Formats: sequence, C-alpha cells, structure tokens
Amino acid sequence: MIAPPGLEGVAVKETKICLIDADAGKIYYRGYDLEELAERSTYEETAYLLLYGRLPRRAELEEFRARLASLRRPPRHVEEAAGLAASAGAEPIDALRTAVSLMAAGEDLSDRSAEAELARGIKAIAAMPYVVAHFDRARRGLKPADAEYRGHAQYFLASLRGEEPDPKEARALDVMFIVYAEHGMNNSSFTAVTVASTLADMYAVITAAISSLKGPLHGGANVDAAKMIAEIGDPERVAEWVDKQLAAGRRIPGFGHRIYKRGPDPRLKILKGLAKGLAELKGDFAWLEIAEGLEEYVGAKLAAKGIYPNTDLYASVIFHYLGLPVDLNLPAFAMARAAGWAAHALEYRAQNRLIRPTERYVGPVNLRYQPLEERG
Ligand code: CMC
Repeated sequence: MIAPPGLEGVAVKETKICLIDADAGKIYYRGYDLEELAERSTYEETAYLLLYGRLPRRAELEEFRARLASLRRPPRHVEEAAGLAASAGAEPIDALRTAVSLMAAGEDLSDRSAEAELARGIKAIAAMPYVVAHFDRARRGLKPADAEYRGHAQYFLASLRGEEPDPKEARALDVMFIVYAEHGMNNSSFTAVTVASTLADMYAVITAAISSLKGPLHGGANVDAAKMIAEIGDPERVAEWVDKQLAAGRRIPGFGHRIYKRGPDPRLKILKGLAKGLAELKGDFAWLEIAEGLEEYVGAKLAAKGIYPNTDLYASVIFHYLGLPVDLNLPAFAMARAAGWAAHALEYRAQNRLIRPTERYVGPVNLRYQPLEERG
C-alpha cells in the first residue's frame, strides 16, 4: 500500500491540540473556539494553552509572561550570530533558523524529559521576537532596541521600531499571532513531530520546522502574497495581473489550501477584520482593496476548483499596515507558530515511536557495473 500523494488525508497521530472542522468553518485550540480566543485571549495566554493543555490561572499567566520577559534576550552568541547574518545579507528567516539552532550551544542537552524540552521550547519562543528585531535593525545599521516586555506582539513591534507601537497595532499583531499559533498537522508541524520522534532536542525540532515553513507552498506564501500585492499596485490591475499569471501556468500566492477545498479558511474572517481596522487606522486602503479585489476575482475564476484565499493573503496586508519589511512576514509567522510546533512535539513524545516510513522501489535492479574507463 502506498500513501496518497502529499500524504493527503493520512492521520499521523491522535491529538488534543487542534481540531479543524473545515465543513463547519470552525477551528478549536484545545477545545476553545479560535474566534473566541482571537477576541478575548492574548498570544501569551494562547501559547500557554497550547503548551500546557489548559488555560492558565491568573498567577500562572503572570508567571509565564514574566518568564517570557526574562528570556527575551537570547544568549550573547545567538545575538551576535543574528548580527553577523545581517551583515552577510542573510534572509531573516534563515537568520532566525540559525539563531534557534545556536540556542543549543552551551546548554546541557542530556535531559530529554518533557519538562526540559518544554523549557527549551519556551526559551526559543521567548527569544524569537528579539532575534528578528535585532537582525532587521542590524541590517538597517541601527543599534538593538530592547523594549519593555508587555506582551509578545507589543515587544516585537517596539524592539523592531525602537519606539512603542500604537496599542491598536499591538493588539492587531497579537490577534494575528493567536491565529498563526497553531493549525493542526501542517507541513512544519509534521516536520517538528518527525524530528521530535528521533529524540532530538526542542531546538533541533524548531529549527527543522522553520526550514519547512520557509517554502513558498507553506509559510513563504505570506512573503510572495505581499510581493504580489506590491506588484499589482492598484485594485484596477488585479484582473490583468491574475489572468497573466494563470495563462503562464503560475499559482496565485495566498490562494488554495490542502484542507479547505469546499469553502474558505475560517481564519479569513478574523484576518480581514484586522486588515480593515488597520487600513482605517492608517487611512490607507490600497492594499486592502487589492486583496479584496483578488479574493473576488480569483474566487470567481477558481472556486469551482476548490481554490479560496488562505490566511497568507490578508496576513500580508496586516503586516504591510504594521510597517514590516515584506521578508519579515515569514519570521513573524514562525515566532507565533513556534508554540504549536512545541506543543505537537511534546504531545508526540509522550507516546513516542520513531517515525520511519517506507517507500516502494520502482527503479531497475541487477544493472551491470561498468568501469569508468568503459563509460567514455
Ligand atoms: N493558484 C492557482 N491554481 C492553484 C492554486 C493557486 N494558488 N493552488 C492550487 N491550484 C490548482 C492546482 O494547479 C491544481 O490544478 P489542476 O487540478 O488543474 O492541476 C488544483 O488547483 C489542485 O491543486 P493541488 O496542488 O492538488 O492542491 P494542494 O492541496 O496540493 O495544494 C497548496 C495546496 C497550498 C500547496 C496550493 O494551493 C498552492 O500552491 N497555493 C499557493 C501557495 C500558498 O498560498 N500557500 C499557502 C498555504 S496556506 C498557509 C500555510 O500553510 O502556510
């Protein structure tokens, strides 16, 4: 028996982390409706929920936030590596991946208990915003800006800009982070689980998951979607741009999803609301209108094929209004999703069995070895 291409429809584990009910248009994190979390929770609280399996009590949340705050600056060698990556012209997602990998340096990794791996996951989650902000500032020739930590989203924006964001901007990014924090057995979470199954440490798990996220069929689409909107430039040009892409046999970034083939991704509604709020705050509607134009035009052309907009379309609009350079869209996704990756790795490790599939050989056998001199 051979699995379907792309492992479509294959369940690789039982889970209590995330339920995606595509037909009902609902997503649940640990049983809680994502729409309600987006409205009432914070990223820190949601990350706690994903990692520990339940909502924190007040004191637990305060302690968790204090822990994230105290771990926000990575070890010096990691910070220096991010600066070096900036001077070498690295892509920010590569700098982040390398930084997370380097967090293993100097740490005793012999304890592979769930507690130790969770602690490593929290360390990585805590340090990611600073690493990305520091990298971006370094490549702009700016000194690090270590802001006061009042939450992941506010801290990231403040450390990136060197000044406090408008609370509405910080909240928009906070909601974006909640939405991006988890989404079932996607490619990067599967990568995380695969690596965790070898008993490699949590830094290795997150490093590998970042590599998976980078691809344009996965998280990289939020960079490509931003480039697309910038290239289109004017809502009037949407149809012409899309027609040209499709005629050339190219895919439209920010559209299509393996599990949303009968209707749009339920996260879209939340993200569209955020994008609208930010467009109003900035008094700039161009990117929002282009995204809406794309949703309508591509929808009319491709919905029959089961192609609807995915999160990356409106995520790129949100990040644009927050003033992120387009290539930071991807590490911003990673810093939110790290909670989901760590949760999946820990869940799988609780009943670990090495992931080691097989394949069906279809090549030749018994070929005669021809010495090099006879091969010409
Ligand atoms: N634009 C145009 N056509 C598309 C697109 C698209 N974005 N996506 C799929 N199709 C077509 C595809 O060419 C195929 O057509 P045909 O049957 O004529 O050959 C049909 O739709 C089915 O495609 P598929 O490759 O079987 O679908 P899949 O489930 O393997 O792919 C996907 C899912 C996300 C890889 C794909 O839709 C895609 O490449 N989208 C663009 C990249 C993107 O936005 N990725 C982000 C995914 S969601 C967020 C995340 O996970 O990070």
